Amino acid sequence: MTAPNIDTIVSLAKRRGFVFPSSEVYGGLGSAWDYGPLGVELCNNVKQAWWRWLVYERDDIEGIDSSIILNRLVWQYSGHEATFHDPLVDCRECKSRMRADKLEGYFPEEGPHAAFDANARIRAGLVKCSECGSTNLTDERFFNMMFRTTLGAAAAEDDPAALAYLRPETAQGIFINFLNVQTTMRRKIPFGIAQIGKSFRNEITPGNFILRTREFEQMEMEYFVKPDAEHFKLVDEWVALYLEWFKGLGIDTANLQLKEVPAEELAHYSKRTVDIMYRYFPERAEEERQWEELMGIAYRTDFDLRSHSSKPTDAEGKRVNPDSTEDLSYFDESMKQRFYPHVIEPAAGVNRTVLAVLMDAYSERTNDKGETRVILKLSPQLAPIKAAILPLAKNKPEIVGMAKAIKRSLQPVLRAVYDDTGGIGKLYARQDEIGTPFCITVDHQSLEDEAVTVRDRDTWEQERVKVSDLAEHLQKRLKPFPVATPEIAS
Ligand code: GAP
Repeated sequence: MTAPNIDTIVSLAKRRGFVFPSSEVYGGLGSAWDYGPLGVELCNNVKQAWWRWLVYERDDIEGIDSSIILNRLVWQYSGHEATFHDPLVDCRECKSRMRADKLEGYFPEEGPHAAFDANARIRAGLVKCSECGSTNLTDERFFNMMFRTTLGAAAAEDDPAALAYLRPETAQGIFINFLNVQTTMRRKIPFGIAQIGKSFRNEITPGNFILRTREFEQMEMEYFVKPDAEHFKLVDEWVALYLEWFKGLGIDTANLQLKEVPAEELAHYSKRTVDIMYRYFPERAEEERQWEELMGIAYRTDFDLRSHSSKPTDAEGKRVNPDSTEDLSYFDESMKQRFYPHVIEPAAGVNRTVLAVLMDAYSERTNDKGETRVILKLSPQLAPIKAAILPLAKNKPEIVGMAKAIKRSLQPVLRAVYDDTGGIGKLYARQDEIGTPFCITVDHQSLEDEAVTVRDRDTWEQERVKVSDLAEHLQKRLKPFPVATPEIAS
């Protein structure tokens, strides 16, 4: 079972301390969300699982953490200043602001490849507002999605010398550090550089909870290969690895789908992109409207390293990038050849992964009294809390003391909490709803036999375990699913 819709997760997330609407005391801020005590643990666990999988368990990937604000020239030469924009229109009737290229009638019947004049189509009344159906729309205008800021206390707001951007992708911080990492870590191609961090996009139509926000977190990896590698095949191989990884996080593959991105939708740097889509909208009647991008795997060619390099020249022999002071090419000893490495880029979103994991983990079960309980069947490696220690009698100091001592003894090996704020049934229900794999009950008999009851979240089965064996017992059962990490061909 998965969550019936995103709204079910929004309400659970708020009720149980995963995610709160941001700035609520001032009426909120559209599409901004704050991660609560359990949400931050879940995000950290997703990021740790990813980092462990790529940076620790493989031998061909290094990690970095680059600045969010980079030299403006990075965004000029990456192509983002010129092309990272969406067409925008306003509806004169209902005052909605929308992305024009998502509206009915925007593209001619021959498809998006055909030459067409979008504003002529809008003025002819062929394009419809997605909110009210009116065709009374403004002309389209292009809107760059990068957030602007100014550097330095004395800078005037419109001083072009002080203009800077918040990064819209973490990838560029990797490209400009390619040589630093390759030389300091003595790497030979193929190898990859991974980074996790915040990115910012002034989205025209953010929404659907944490699916599309203006501030979000990415887990990106740039994998550098030879110019004559089988790039399209490598895209397929990374797609297969990620499908395994998502499966290992507990996501049912029936809720994942691949989308070969059509040529006209490819980003300016990509020759091929395959998106892994997740069924975020199971409630929608039309199957094709149920899916949204979870991540993308792109073949970026040598576009980025070449663009940031000082040497490449155009047809007239003029330097394409007169501002760069470095040549980011690579000398391959085996080939005795210098070239700009080509790149395969798996780019995933932390927040979209968290949402998919929450939706997939959602389930309901009816207890003996006919009451419906929510159980969040999170993979144990992702569960914010691994074990809850619950005293059966909170007015009995010996039981409370023993329960608190067990919590303290488990804490160095796994995240444990102590809770005595309700009856046992209520405490179990609360832990089930936040995905805690084990509840450990300390009762009167525990004082005699030095054993506790371990209750399984998914089966509700209980077993008696010696306190001295408890840490090992839990660690064994908490082991993450093994994830395939086969080597990738160069
Ligand atoms: N470097 C390539 C790149 O950034 P992208 O497809 O634009 O590619 C990668 O972004 C991933 O980042 C997406 O698949 C999604 O998971 C996440 N992402 C992008 N925009 C987002 C947004 N506005 N809100 C939440 N996540 C977003």
